[in-house]
Amino acid sequence: MDSKFKLSEVKSREDFDEITRVIWDAFEHPLNPFLRIMFYLKSDGPEHRTIAKAACSQGLFEIHSGDASSRWVKINELGTGKMTACANWNLHETNPYELPEDPPIATWWPEGEGRNFATKFYTQCVSHKPTMYNKPHLYLNISATMPTFQRKGVGGMLVEWGLKWADEMGLESFTEATQVGKPLYEHYGFSVIDVITVDKTSMAIENPSEEWKELERRLLPNIQCVLVKHEDLEVAHN
Ligand SMILES: CC(C)(COP(=O)(O)OP(=O)(O)OC[C@H]1O[C@@H](n2cnc3c(N)ncnc32)[C@H](O)[C@@H]1OP(=O)(O)O)[C@@H](O)C(=O)NCCC(=O)NCCS
Repeated sequence: MDSKFKLSEVKSREDFDEITRVIWDAFEHPLNPFLRIMFYLKSDGPEHRTIAKAACSQGLFEIHSGDASSRWVKINELGTGKMTACANWNLHETNPYELPEDPPIATWWPEGEGRNFATKFYTQCVSHKPTMYNKPHLYLNISATMPTFQRKGVGGMLVEWGLKWADEMGLESFTEATQVGKPLYEHYGFSVIDVITVDKTSMAIENPSEEWKELERRLLPNIQCVLVKHEDLEVAHN
């Protein structure tokens, strides 16, 4: 572990503003289209970015506070105290997909064509979960390292923290990643078990509006891998 950095668990509401800063910086350089689906941004002007980030911070805080399975961890640089990386892990001690769920709707987008686009996109990104994650497991929902702190080992510290927890619980871990995140997970023993491609074919509708076509141009294709890290049998059963 690099002694320049400290890992700790997120406890305060204020941390979610920092988490939002880290996530947006990491997922906008380069742009990961899923960021735009998950967090509605009306336009790229500073005013709308401030509004979108405030909504992101509050939304992440509310989801975390209402979900007993959720734990956020952060890495701060010693000296400056700056948050450089963060991750959200979820422990599911039973199958979280036991009960059928209603199809998702991207209600965080304003009603209209944009919301329909976000819903169709989001649905494809999560549709594997009920059939692939239908068992007790840990789920790495997100991890992000600020671009200026990448390749210094902090993303790895966040993955190791969760994998240690998985080993203690004797559980598999699942996550999803684009080509940017995949090498980190593969480095820690995750393997790709599926690839989900959201593209013009999968998003095709009849008579798409100009707004729909513009979103297609900006956000497609989105390719993400589904990855699993099997439980460490040696640790789990000792
Ligand atoms: C993926 C991400 C979190 C990695 O964070 P990081 O702090 O740079 O990762 P680390 O420095 O701990 O990397 C540990 C190991 O993972 C592998 N790795 C990480 N990033 C890599 C990259 N871009 N290319 C190749 N290997 C990489 C390497 O083996 C690395 O060890 P090394 O540097 O000694 O070779 C960061 O690139 C990021 O935030 N990307 C944007 C958001 C994202 O895609 N998140 C993951 C999906 S939710």
